[in-house]
Amino acid sequence: MARENLPATIADPSAKEQQSPSQSDVKRRSFLKGLGVVGAALSTGSLLATTAEGQPRGSIITVGDVSILRFLAAAEILETDLWQQYNEFGGIQDSEVPGGSGSRLYTKALEVLDGDMPQYIHDNTEDEMTHELFINAYLMSKGAEPVNLDQFRTLPSSQATGAQQIGRLTNLMQLSVDTTWFTRYRSRTGNPDLGDTFPQAIPSIAMGQHPAIPRTDDDVQPDPSKPHHISDLTQAIANTAGFHFATIEQGGTSLYAMLAQRATSLEVLRIVLSIGGTEICHFQTWSDKAGNAPTLSVVDPVTGLTVTFPDLNSPPLDGEDFQTNLIMPEPTAFLNRKLPACSIIRPTKTKGAAMGALKALTDDGLFIGQSPAFFKFMRTLAIEADLAVRQ
Ligand SMILES: [Fe+2]
Ligand SMILES: [Fe+2]
Repeated sequence: MARENLPATIADPSAKEQQSPSQSDVKRRSFLKGLGVVGAALSTGSLLATTAEGQPRGSIITVGDVSILRFLAAAEILETDLWQQYNEFGGIQDSEVPGGSGSRLYTKALEVLDGDMPQYIHDNTEDEMTHELFINAYLMSKGAEPVNLDQFRTLPSSQATGAQQIGRLTNLMQLSVDTTWFTRYRSRTGNPDLGDTFPQAIPSIAMGQHPAIPRTDDDVQPDPSKPHHISDLTQAIANTAGFHFATIEQGGTSLYAMLAQRATSLEVLRIVLSIGGTEICHFQTWSDKAGNAPTLSVVDPVTGLTVTFPDLNSPPLDGEDFQTNLIMPEPTAFLNRKLPACSIIRPTKTKGAAMGALKALTDDGLFIGQSPAFFKFMRTLAIEADLAVRQ
């Protein structure tokens, strides 16, 4: 392989640097440096085309690999932040996932979807913490710069009993929850990678701004006329959370599959496939639970908006695209409509994956109240990840 065609790489720090970088490496480095984020990662001096020659492919990571992992590290930090908030109210607060003291009626409302919801919320939260810590530790082990979003922990905590009063990265109180994953995964013909679009399962939470955690104790007042004294408002908030859980995790499911296609190092590919696999486990679980959300319609007294959870198994919604127990991906078109239908995760097209994920999270309202500096930082990470090319 001609030297100028070799990938820009970050070798294992233990590897000896032997020669200076090629022209193309220098160009790539200064371009990335111009974006101002991976400077430290690139200043290791071990981005040497020649270093790559003597090493097994699996142990070398490229600038593109670093960019992919840095975007994923940021995504995992954001996931941890939002799951932590859910756990403080509705999960199990223990030494594995500390913080918060629980909200009794909100937790009971979540348990209407499944009695094990507190355990599942706890475990999803712990998983995200380990994803974040692992990816950052791996980056450092390769001499690359980890991601830290602490300066952006500026959003207020919920004022309801149960939450810690700390700065947050994400806002779970003004969500517009995209519920098209529900119909997308049930469609036997549609695939977003082939240009298809899908109806919302719960249109009323996809429009406007809705809480998925109690905002104040007013949101969790007991209603003695209801089973377990769970008010319709509290149940609507828990139902919204139930759908949002799956919205988040199907996003992770697609994101990892999309970015894996552009990893160069086999070890980075292994990391992306292995962590991505747990995002799929999460999505599968939440996909099942969301369908158990009880039907109701209630006016949120804070927003004035009506929130409606329809019966997805009755007319006019009955049919496979809404049937709640169709929790496994229905076979659908994949790659080319001339090929046979296949049960797959979707979408998986890799182009613009990171920016698409950032846009989806932003459109969900997850970052309402965040600073321009936060969006600039996240956009830069996404642009760099989307420039990564498999070498
Ligand atoms: Fe994760
Ligand atoms: Fe996740």
